[in-house]
Amino acid sequence: MKKKVLLMGKSGSGKTSMRSIIFANYIARDTRRLGYTIDVEHSHVRFLGNLVLNLWDCGGQEAFMENYFASQRDHIFRNVEVLIYVFDVESRELEKDMHYYQSCLEAILQNSRDAKIFCLIHKMDLVQEGQRDAIFGDRELELKRRSLPLDITCFRTSIWDETLYKAWSSIVYSLIPNVRLLELHLSKFADILEADEVVLFERATFLVISHSTRTNYMDLHRFEKISNIIKQFKLSCTKSHSQFQSVEVRNSSFAAFIDVFTSNTYVMVIMSDPTIPSAATLVNIHNARKHFE
Ligand code: GTP
Repeated sequence: MKKKVLLMGKSGSGKTSMRSIIFANYIARDTRRLGYTIDVEHSHVRFLGNLVLNLWDCGGQEAFMENYFASQRDHIFRNVEVLIYVFDVESRELEKDMHYYQSCLEAILQNSRDAKIFCLIHKMDLVQEGQRDAIFGDRELELKRRSLPLDITCFRTSIWDETLYKAWSSIVYSLIPNVRLLELHLSKFADILEADEVVLFERATFLVISHSTRTNYMDLHRFEKISNIIKQFKLSCTKSHSQFQSVEVRNSSFAAFIDVFTSNTYVMVIMSDPTIPSAATLVNIHNARKHFE
């Protein structure tokens, strides 16, 4: 099942950087060496076995943009499942950015009316921490207003923290078929394990696909933090020519297990009952694999 995902926004806004970090194992520092994208760069990313993301990273220099809206209009904007539009929060050309964004929406309305639209207010690390909420709020409001009649979802992102994972997990989540069924199975699995929480991560990207939570947690950003930390750890393992397999973290009040699950996923199980031995949880995880393949 192929899903076309358009990645657009002005030159230098950070499109190739985020794609390289999420899908090609770059670390944030490496993106400083990326050159301009010439025309469109296509990549196919296999996701959860039979879902293939067909990513179109559209170079954002003006000459290319004009071309997408004119001579390549049908080719670019046909059969789009998801449009991701990236805005550089520090851009000094807001009106021009909006003009290109609205041209893009027009082309989407004509060619792929049902496409889901995500706007990323990117490079938020460059904004002082105390001002981030206000700036994001303003931009989101403005974008929603200018996008009518289309409904859009906005995220604030930076390649320097876990916000990138939050945005991309939500985007990918919107593309997964039968996601409700998956959630139902995961919730049953959490009940059987007597786990506080069970989280499913895609194997290559470590994006969160689904979760079942049976307790109240204060930290709403825990998933993307874990994605970010484990992805960094996986990369360090690769550098030392070993493969990341599993992690167990314990303190006096809980135990967390991250382990290979199906051929396309990792699972994380959080247990707070100290009387349940690790071996029992690991056997249960092992036995559940075949039901999720
Ligand atoms: P085109 O290919 O010309 O369309 O540009 P692009 O949108 O693909 O931009 P690219 O990913 O090449 O990034 C341009 C520069 O922005 C690089 O030097 C990145 O390191 C930097 N960059 C990307 N994301 C961030 C971010 O979140 N914060 C900061 N501070 N810099 C970023």
